[in-house]
Amino acid sequence: KTLDDLGEVTGKVALVRVDLNLPMKDGSATDLTRVEAVKPTILELADKGAKVLLLAHFGRPGGKRSSVLSTSFVQGDVEEVLGKEIMFIPEVAGPVVDQSIGILGNGDIGLLDNVRFWPGEEDNDPNFAQAIAAHGDFYVNDAFSAAHRAHASTEGLAHHLPAFAGRAMEAELKALDAALGNPEAPVAAVVGGAKVSTKLAVLENLVGRVQHLIIGGGMANTFLAARGVDVGKSLCEHDLTDTASKIMDEADHTGCTVHLPYDVVVAREFAANPPSLRTCNVHEVAADEMILDIGPQATEALADVLKTCRTLVWNGPLGAFETEPFDAATMTLARHVAALTQEGSLTSVAGGGDTVAALAQAGVTGDVTYVSTAGGAFLEWMEGKQLPGVAALSADNG
Ligand code: 3PG
Repeated sequence: KTLDDLGEVTGKVALVRVDLNLPMKDGSATDLTRVEAVKPTILELADKGAKVLLLAHFGRPGGKRSSVLSTSFVQGDVEEVLGKEIMFIPEVAGPVVDQSIGILGNGDIGLLDNVRFWPGEEDNDPNFAQAIAAHGDFYVNDAFSAAHRAHASTEGLAHHLPAFAGRAMEAELKALDAALGNPEAPVAAVVGGAKVSTKLAVLENLVGRVQHLIIGGGMANTFLAARGVDVGKSLCEHDLTDTASKIMDEADHTGCTVHLPYDVVVAREFAANPPSLRTCNVHEVAADEMILDIGPQATEALADVLKTCRTLVWNGPLGAFETEPFDAATMTLARHVAALTQEGSLTSVAGGGDTVAALAQAGVTGDVTYVSTAGGAFLEWMEGKQLPGVAALSADNG
């Protein structure tokens, strides 16, 4: 159920789970995308006259109050994005919350303190969920990026109150469904990043579901090594070459083509524009060289593959994109994806911190179909897992 299924809400208390776990530097948030994402839900409920109570976690305080992890630190950021003042409430349940609700007028917004200050949150304690639920008339979950956690505020509350997906959650689920749930074929997946070990479950899930599996980043080295390529000093998980071979065998059986680079950018040291920089065939990497990006021919070949595809899901960069010139393949791919999406031939969904940063670096964030700011939740979704926070919304008992 979505906000469209809500009846009259004037004067009712909406408990709205949002993700305000913002990236911070020196005490200030460095990116407000997560607040922007939940703005439509919050304002829609406020405009309809509900009293909106925002429920969120901030960092990992481990079930204890922490003076540095109060959600009051992001109150100003939320006010800035919403363009209105909100009331900070230093509890999540009990008389202080009751009194605050009494002070809030219809359409006003309150921000509860960090729900992870209480152990019942991460324990998904039904009594804790009930204590919070007692203050609300209905529950809205707009925090896809926390939906992989079976916590009281992400999962438990849906069993105590009528539960609805917020606008951001709705958009995220729709985009993800278009990418992997019910995609238009052919489907390509780009999986990059440093290590195979962190994305094994992702690769195992994708191999049976996509027609093209494009492997980049340090992960590609492990796959190349599995094919007998000497990758020199490159980052490589030699203990996982058998696993990589099994994934490639499985791909043969499921009609999935695994794409590995055949030219690469190498250097003897990892630094910006190092003197030893060169591009070579994967079979010509010297013992003292490391692969830091895929080469221009391989990048061009990937662009050709994407031209034949209708859907793309992308997680992880193709090379060490934070350091020039090892950003080249990732930037070129990002621009191709953006252009194909804008032409209307590709539905493109990207997620994960590095991928979001790479799209921003290429200046194409707004040109892909959907960019997910979820980290762990996006990966678990790519692993094919049912996310507890999403499952609870469809099984609401409230
Ligand atoms: C995130 O930042 O990815 C989410 O807010 C989840 O945070 P967590 O990993 O601490 O559960």
